[in-house]
Amino acid sequence: MSLHDQLESVYQTALQELENIQDSASLQGWESKYLGRKGQVTLMLRETGKLPQEERATFGQRANEIKNLLINAFAEREDAIRKAELEKSLSEGQLDVTLPGRRYALGGLHPSTQILRRIQEIWAEMGFQVYRSREVESDEINFTLLNMPPHHPARDMQDTFYTTQPDIVLRTHTSGGQIRAMREYGENGTKPIRVILPGMCFRYEQVTTRSEIQFHQVEGLAIGKGIRMSDLKGTVAEFAKRLYGPDTEVRYRASYFPFTEPSMEVDIKCKICGGGGCSVCKYSGWLEIMGSGMVHPVVLQNGGYDPAEWSGFAFGMGPERIMMQRNNIQDIRYFWGNDLRFLEQF
Ligand code: DAH
Repeated sequence: MSLHDQLESVYQTALQELENIQDSASLQGWESKYLGRKGQVTLMLRETGKLPQEERATFGQRANEIKNLLINAFAEREDAIRKAELEKSLSEGQLDVTLPGRRYALGGLHPSTQILRRIQEIWAEMGFQVYRSREVESDEINFTLLNMPPHHPARDMQDTFYTTQPDIVLRTHTSGGQIRAMREYGENGTKPIRVILPGMCFRYEQVTTRSEIQFHQVEGLAIGKGIRMSDLKGTVAEFAKRLYGPDTEVRYRASYFPFTEPSMEVDIKCKICGGGGCSVCKYSGWLEIMGSGMVHPVVLQNGGYDPAEWSGFAFGMGPERIMMQRNNIQDIRYFWGNDLRFLEQF
């Protein structure tokens, strides 16, 4: 075969091969096979000198022409393959930007925290500051100074968590904090006080649907000159209206607590049945929301105040109880049961 014919046949084969190439790796192989330094077309161009003088010009011209044609064909093919490869990778890694994002599971506040915050908010609006007393308390403050002498039934082993330290207990109620607040802020019985004392309390009791060994209380204390029972009644009625709604009906029942005299319990008309009677109010039409009373003279004295000049009222309520009434929760054990199916409802 003449060199001319060889050239044409290399050209045809190169074109055909190029057309079948589908990826850039093979494309590079093709380029060095035909157009590289040792490529077939390059080598043929070098053969020009071996031809007789008169054939050299036409052969050289044709060889250069073919070289350029192949270079252009290569560029075109390269372009097409790049586009195809780009499209392929785009469609494989396709993103649907209209898909909604994945939701993060948001945590929430514990129902006790929610009701505590609401109660604190209302008392804050009514001018009561928060006083944080302690959960581990002396027997003296938890009982004795609250006018509960050692024989008092509330001190019974069945009710109190004692510690290995003599005379140190887990507080059974927040009322002892009254003594601390009076001593700390009363300035030896010379300054009025208006505080609430929220916090955890502990009782050594059988756990049932209605009683837990730990629970919150929010205590309240107002000390001043000329504070009367009517102030207490008006204040707790206002609180009830703010917590339960403006049309809430309140009633007071005489009661007994060692640290108040007189003492009373505060009820609201049942929100579930409107007073007609239902399982939530135990068919009484009323729900008890707190204990309260006028601070006992002995307690005032223990706080550093002269009961001849100073008086005050106190109250104590149970946030978990309130939450149970409000949301018709049948079992207090849900509060510390850590069951998300319960907690997520609030
Ligand atoms: N400490 C009482 C209890 O644990 C609640 C209470 C009743 C607090 C009357 C008071 C009060 O301040 O005046 O049941």
